[in-house]
Order: sequence, then C-alpha cells, then structure tokens
Amino acid sequence: MKIVHTVAEWQQWCDETRLAKRTIGLVPTMGALHGGHVALIQAAKSHNDTVVLTIFVNPTQFSNSQDLENYPRPESADIAVADAAGVDLLVLPSVHEIWPVFPPPVNYQVGPLGERYEGADRPGHFTGVAQVVRRLVEITGECRAYFGEKDFQQVCVIREMVRTLDLDVEIQTIATVREENGLALASRNIRLSAEGKTRALSFSRALREVPEASAEEIELEARQRLEAAGVAVAYVTVVDSRSLQRVSAHYEGPARLLLAGEVDGVRLIDNGPVFIRSSHAVSN
Ligand code: PAF
Repeated sequence: MKIVHTVAEWQQWCDETRLAKRTIGLVPTMGALHGGHVALIQAAKSHNDTVVLTIFVNPTQFSNSQDLENYPRPESADIAVADAAGVDLLVLPSVHEIWPVFPPPVNYQVGPLGERYEGADRPGHFTGVAQVVRRLVEITGECRAYFGEKDFQQVCVIREMVRTLDLDVEIQTIATVREENGLALASRNIRLSAEGKTRALSFSRALREVPEASAEEIELEARQRLEAAGVAVAYVTVVDSRSLQRVSAHYEGPARLLLAGEVDGVRLIDNGPVFIRSSHAVSN
C-alpha cells in the first residue's frame, strides 16, 4: 500500500492508474476505521481494479468545534486496517492540502434535502460534506465512490450534488454493518460507555421490531423505545427514500425510518426500511 500526503502525488497516482486502463474505487472517510469502512473497501475492490482510501477529518462539516476536536484520530491503527483490507493508495492529506484557502468558498448550495433532520440540528453540516466530497472526487478524477447507508441523508445529498453538477463519479452505497447485537458500526461508538452501548441498542431494536402500521404509529413506537432506553431523541421520522419528505397520511408502501439521538453526549443516527399501512386508507 502506498501512502501519500499531497494532492499532487494523489493526482499523479490516479492519472497513471487511468493511463494504465485501471479503474479506481474511491472510499472517502474521516478515519477511525471500523468494519463498515472495511465493507466499503471490499465492495470497492470487487468492482474496480484499484482502491483509493482517503482519511480526512473535514473541519467544514463540523458545526461544533468541540465535536471536531474530540473526533477520534487513531492514525497508526487506521494505516494497519487499510493495509490489511487491501487498499492500494492511502491518502492522508492536511487541512491545508485540501483547503489552501480556509474557510473555502461555498460553490454548491445544498437544497432542502440537506436542511432537515441532521441538517437542521447541525447547521452547515451538509454544505461541508458536499464541499469536501466534490473536492475529493475532483482530485481523484473518474471513479466510483463508496458510501455507507447508515448516513442515509448524506448519501441523498451527495447523489443530488453529483446529478446537479454532473460530476465524473458513480455513487455506490453499501448496507449498514452492525455488531452481532445490532448496533450500527460508527466511529463515534468509541466514545460510548458500556451502559451507553446498551442504551444505543434501542436504535437497532426499534428498526428491527417496527410494525407494519401508519407512519404516525411507527414513529410513536420507535420514539417510545428510544426514550424508554434513556436516549435523548433528536428526531424519529418516516420519510420517502428519495425526497426525504415525510410520507403523507394516505401513503401506503415502502419508506425509510430515520432515527437520531444522543447517548452519553454522543450523537447517534440509524435508519432502516419500513412498510407503511395507511390508517386513512379508504375501505369500500
Ligand atoms: O461519512 C463520512 O465519513 C464523511 O462525511 C465523508 C463522506 C468522508 C466526508 O467527509
């Protein structure tokens, strides 16, 4: 595995790879690599000739400086994970390499998709995500890029940006990887106490045991489960999987349940598919 720190070396490696007619799978991360990232790397390896992994804790997507400071950065462990997973090029850029001008100008406006849920609770978060994903993709050049479904709203925002700007990238998503007990793998889990981890299990339990019912009933039941476990709930919403609009009262069919809340002061999110049976269905 080759490790580079500069944009120039990274671009050169990608240019040479494409010249040799080898395809590139890009896995953008903020490090603290876990099984979810390894699943992204494996998918990228299976679809492409080479895999580029970036580890960059992007300051423009943090609305809270404390959160940015506390973000885990276990660099030597990450290098070992990337190497063992078969990454070809590991990119560890500095903030200055990615953002020579700081703060960087915003040159893409995230629309309403990025303003609700995570976007409402973390102002500017998706603007920062879109900004950095665009930069990483533009440096890499033509590639497939891999993202986890755990960050469901993030994937929707990125897909919309790629469509709007016609970026030279194919977005691929990978199902959430979970511990055996159901807990969705996340870099922030490192900061949970043993008791916090038990509380956090209420997220996956709420998703697993969701009834086929109306959106309101599903939301109520999921909220009650989280609250009973001591989670400080941020939102519990049943949405259309593409628009992320809350489903209408008359809707019947598949949708997505989005959950967010805090445990031990750590923000956790999760989501899963649900099936809506409208309580307003007209019977004749
Ligand atoms: O999901 C993440 O880890 C980050 O938001 C991403 C996509 C790497 C952008 O910094």
